[in-house]
Amino acid sequence: MSLLDEAAKAQVKAYAPYSNFRVGAAIRTEKGDIYTGVNVENAAYPEGTCAEAGAIAAMVLGGETKIAEVAVIGDSDDPVPPCGGCRQKLREFASPEVKVSMMSRTGKVLTMTVGELLPGAFTTEHMD
Ligand code: THU
Repeated sequence: MSLLDEAAKAQVKAYAPYSNFRVGAAIRTEKGDIYTGVNVENAAYPEGTCAEAGAIAAMVLGGETKIAEVAVIGDSDDPVPPCGGCRQKLREFASPEVKVSMMSRTGKVLTMTVGELLPGAFTTEHMD
């Protein structure tokens, strides 16, 4: 199964009763393992979490911290890019060269790197 297929398989489990905008994310680690996540909304709207954050949490729980590839799918006519916060969260565990494939509900795919999505990222190097 492709990484986008993994994201699509997760997406159906999204909990998005407020926006009705379901998102699924999948991460392949350098070890080759796959972790998925979905958006989980909350009656207190800002407390909702993004699909990418869920996939990252699952990866960390699985004992891994090195992202090799990312896929995101959302209920949109155009490929859904990670939000600003998720770009930063992904950058924590992914080098700028890592590819992020984004897919629309119609199957349109856009692939960009983490570095393209978040140029000039703040990282631990700035704290040396
Ligand atoms: N959402 C994600 O899960 N990932 C993104 O990168 C974009 C936005 C979710 C958050 C919220 O549950 C819904 O999409 C609408 O913003």
